[in-house]
Amino acid sequence: MKTDQTKLRIVITGGSSGIGEAIAFNMAKDGHKLYLIGRNQQKLLKVKEQIEKVSGEVHIGIGDVGDENDGERLLNDIINELGGVDVLVANAGIGYFGNLEDLTLTQFDEQFNTNVRGVFIWLKQVLPLMKKKNKGQIIVTSSNLGLKTSSIASFYSATIHDVKAMVWCLRKELKDTQVKAATINPGSVDTPWFDGKDVDRTKMLSSIDIADAARLIILQKETSNIDHILLLPGKN
Ligand SMILES: NC(=O)c1ccc[n+]([C@@H]2O[C@H](COP(=O)([O-])OP(=O)(O)OC[C@H]3O[C@@H](n4cnc5c(N)ncnc54)[C@H](OP(=O)(O)O)[C@@H]3O)[C@@H](O)[C@H]2O)c1
Repeated sequence: MKTDQTKLRIVITGGSSGIGEAIAFNMAKDGHKLYLIGRNQQKLLKVKEQIEKVSGEVHIGIGDVGDENDGERLLNDIINELGGVDVLVANAGIGYFGNLEDLTLTQFDEQFNTNVRGVFIWLKQVLPLMKKKNKGQIIVTSSNLGLKTSSIASFYSATIHDVKAMVWCLRKELKDTQVKAATINPGSVDTPWFDGKDVDRTKMLSSIDIADAARLIILQKETSNIDHILLLPGKN
């Protein structure tokens, strides 16, 4: 396959909504090639349609990030459609909040399967491809709750600490390569994440803020290797 080297092949898990969708729109402006992953086909098709009105090549893949068979199937599709992966944004995530004793084992399993297992599966899949080329950028969406703790966030915060630690350990493994890994650690972001919840969204970060941070990481030069970006809301 003949590829345009200036156009990055960017895979975004959770690309059908909120932060992932905003990153997709931001990078599509430059004509980079996108592969968006989520479980809901309708949501993915809607985003693909909207982006393609502006510019860019968008592919979609339907699957669960926590399922290794879905991962293998989608990676094969990515290789067929794009020929490789230059950037992985491991962003898909869910959040269960409540006092620890009120949360359930089912919620625990779903929380860790999506936010931790899902990140591990996708990192493990793309790393050999990137290491072979000695080039690539991984971004994992963590949270400010990956750097601190809070009430009613016990195991959401645990997963987000977990992926931050995973990335920071990985950075040490990658130190002699041009494969880079970073986390983005936002405070509250006004996305569909909060739909149906009784919270004040007026002072939250915008998903566009997070997309700008992702863009900075993705387009950084060889001389730079951003470790993490912590974003807090500008309005008090
Ligand atoms: N919003 C915030 O305040 C905030 C703050 C800090 C960090 N974050 C992190 O940012 C990430 C994105 O959040 P968001 O605010 O953009 O939420 P969102 O609007 O709810 O989007 C979540 C995305 O993840 C996908 N997803 C969820 N579970 C999945 C699974 N098992 N397999 C594949 N895709 C899955 C969803 O699509 P489907 O449902 O169709 O699968 C959707 O595209 C999350 O990891 C979250 O922890 C959010």
